[in-house]
Amino acid sequence: MNPFTVFAYRFIQKSLHVALFFIKMPEPKRYSLLLDLPKCLEEAKVHKPLIVCDSTMAKLPSMAKLIGGLEEANVPYAVYSGVVPNPTFGCIKEGLNAFKENGCDCIVSLGGGSSIDCAKSIATLVAGKSDDLARFRGLLKVKGKLCPHVAIPTTAGSGSEATPACVVTDEEHSDKFAIESPKLIPGYAILDDSVLEGCPKKLIAATGMDAYTHALESYLNCSRTGKTKAYGIKAMQLLEKSLKDFYDDPTVQQSRADVQLASYLAGVAFSRAFVGYAHALSHSLGGTFHIAHGLANAVLLPYVVAAFGKKAYKKLARVSDAIKLCDANLPNEAKAKAFIAHLIKLNEALGIPKTFEGAYKKEDIPALVEHAYAEANPGYPVPRILSREELSRILDEAMG
Ligand SMILES: [Fe+2]
Repeated sequence: MNPFTVFAYRFIQKSLHVALFFIKMPEPKRYSLLLDLPKCLEEAKVHKPLIVCDSTMAKLPSMAKLIGGLEEANVPYAVYSGVVPNPTFGCIKEGLNAFKENGCDCIVSLGGGSSIDCAKSIATLVAGKSDDLARFRGLLKVKGKLCPHVAIPTTAGSGSEATPACVVTDEEHSDKFAIESPKLIPGYAILDDSVLEGCPKKLIAATGMDAYTHALESYLNCSRTGKTKAYGIKAMQLLEKSLKDFYDDPTVQQSRADVQLASYLAGVAFSRAFVGYAHALSHSLGGTFHIAHGLANAVLLPYVVAAFGKKAYKKLARVSDAIKLCDANLPNEAKAKAFIAHLIKLNEALGIPKTFEGAYKKEDIPALVEHAYAEANPGYPVPRILSREELSRILDEAMG
């Protein structure tokens, strides 16, 4: 890697790190029951929520329970249940119309990352008095004060209930982009683990490892703070304690609650300290070959961490100590290598393959790397900036 390029990237990352100390990054107020919703709305001094979800969620018992709680408390509401995966301009505009036509004054999102992102986008359009999302594309472009948003995640992994960003798809121009602003962080997050009870095993594994990747990548990054370190470590400890149990038996309440909290904490951590190459490569693979985000992260994580070499030994040794993986007296290098081997075993225990098993070919790698390199640089403050050749080697090793 050219040392001048590395210097320039590090300078930009350091400047961003300093600038972020002057930007307030609020944390959502947490509640733990679906039936706490009327309390949240009363606290936010709002009267009529638009509930944003997808058509499947609209028929599930969690939705019935949420609505039952509102009716019991005599709170009027409207429902928009047309959210699609990777929310499109079309579905966000439908949600905006539902918000306006029903005279709503706040939003409740019930679902995975797509529903929460759709809700953030609707709130952005309402506050910006516009129906053109492209105006808000990028960093700090959101205008006005957003209406209160209560996020209720029904998967444990994306951490979207705590993050200052949403990703939207412009279906007309085949474009997908992020809107990023601390204003997008929901004011309230209801973490009710009962919504996770029917979660399929594959989803638990993929979303759980997505949360693990948020926690570990943010912990390894140079822009971490005392808070993001503590949240990242706590998230990894909770996932070590309970992800496998949750995967084995989603009816065990404590393991569901632990993984749900881990996802939230990891979401707060990476909002401030960013993610790294596992995410950059995973977005690239997801965009081209539609490989699920969490699964791609899980497969890539051991390869990416190993590629950092001795630059990451000390931090990986700390993680190894925090999860009590091996003898605390071992040298950092041994602890780091034991941790990487442990990640591979954890994936195996969760039914995640070691490689992508030929989902892409060698000739696809240069384009995939180009996309990932552009995403990661100069923004991601990774422990060691990798060259295109090193990223190619990771995809080559993980190809299978
Ligand atoms: Fe992620």
